[in-house]
This record gives sequence, C-alpha cells and structure tokens, in this order.
Amino acid sequence: MQHFLTYKGAILHFSDTGSGSPVVLLHGFLANQSMWNTLVPHFAKTHRVICIDLLGHGQSGHISETHTMEDMADAVKTITNHLQLDCITLIGHSMGGYVSLAFAEAYPNMVKGLCLMNSTAAADSEQKKQNRDRAIEAVKQSYKRFIRITVPNLFAKTNQTIFKADINMCIEQALKMAPQSIVAALNGMKQRKDRIEFFRNASFNKMMIIGRNDPILNYDDLKKQTKKSDISVVELEGGHMSHIENMKELTYNIVYFIEFL
Ligand code: MLT
Repeated sequence: MQHFLTYKGAILHFSDTGSGSPVVLLHGFLANQSMWNTLVPHFAKTHRVICIDLLGHGQSGHISETHTMEDMADAVKTITNHLQLDCITLIGHSMGGYVSLAFAEAYPNMVKGLCLMNSTAAADSEQKKQNRDRAIEAVKQSYKRFIRITVPNLFAKTNQTIFKADINMCIEQALKMAPQSIVAALNGMKQRKDRIEFFRNASFNKMMIIGRNDPILNYDDLKKQTKKSDISVVELEGGHMSHIENMKELTYNIVYFIEFL
C-alpha cells in the first residue's frame, strides 16, 4: 500500500506492506523504493515492511541544495513517527546505508538491527570528495549523460552484459530524478561523517553485505571495518547491486537477519 505525507513542505512517499516486527528498507543514490519490489514479498511474509523514497528520490520531494544524511534520516523519522513505530530493523543499500547509520546514531534505542548492504560506515576520502565535485559538474552539464554512464558502472564488469535489461530499468528510474536532487544527494554524501566506530560498537544486531567485485567500494577497506567486531559479514560474488546481481543469496541472508539475529 502506497502512502504520502508532508515533510518541510515536500511530499514523502513510502509503502507499508505486511505485519509483524517492522523492517525499513532504504534505497541507494539514483534509486527509489521500487528497487525492493522483488524482495518485499519475501520479507512481508513475516514482517511489516516499509520502503521509503528518500528526499529527492522517487516521488519524494526536494527540500534543499544539500540533502545531508541527517536530513534524510530526519525524514525517515517523520515516517516512523507517523506510523508509531518504536523499534525497527533498517536495511540500507549504499547511500541508504549512510542514512541508516545517521538514523541509528540519532535514535539508537529505536534500532533492533542494521544491515549495511553494499555500503560503508566510512566517510568519503579526499579523492572521493573530489570525485563528488566532478560528478556535480557532470550533472550540471548533462544529468542524463551522467546517469547513463554512472548506473552501468555500479555492476561488476562481468555482469554488465548479463544484466543489461535491469541496468536499463535502473537508468529509466534514475532519469525520473530532478538534476538538483542528484546534486543535493552528492553534496550530502560528500559531507557525511565517519561512523565506523559507532557501527562497530553499537549494541543492535549488525550485518554487512559486501560485493567482492563492487566497483564503488573497496573490499579490503570494508573487511577492515568489520575486523574483531560482532558485525556479521556476508560476501557475495557480484558488484554494488546485490539485489540484482545476487538476488537469491541476498534475499536469503536478509531473511535470516530479520528473522533470526
Ligand atoms: C549509491 O549507490 O548509493 C552510491 O553509489 C553511494 C556512493 O556514491 O557513495
């Protein structure tokens, strides 16, 4: 079931399916809640599943030149307040993982579990910050070209032909975004803080899903974040888009996380 509410003068769009202990799914950059479409039926057998269009993505509105991870987390909190949820499990894909961490830091007592899926608790490196500035310039030149180049490069090289149709679908979804919202998310990701120690030390259930061939995130850096911690680690063969490249294994592992951990 799809729902809307107003947040700081903008619309927030989300879906609410099933019943049971609530699981909140947060998509990544350039995506929207439709990325979870094939997974929701599995999770909703036993849980209440809320999928949110983050600020400036999908059908949710734009509020600022920069959408910080804290802004996006605050919008998520508006929805959990509206739904009167006091304890949730968060599954965040990539940028959705950054937002999940910002949410968990602000409201640790509300979080039962947090799964970082193809995401990181680290801040951007100096190099990555420079890349964000270049990306912002590229979006201003032609956001369509930026999307058409960026999206295929989220997949492992060997998967770019195999998943051509899915890549085209992701591009089609991303092209619905306004260029200023793409820039606002890039600015927000660039400014995000390091939450490695916060995540390692948090007392809620933690899982990290890592794509061994993720072109966006460094495998060794991610492994280091989980070393000598109680974070469960799942390694998958594909790239940054586990929900497409490793759909079955991903579903199995998230179901395990929400049901048994
Ligand atoms: C995402 O998929 O959300 C982005 O690639 C994350 C990022 O650029 O850091």
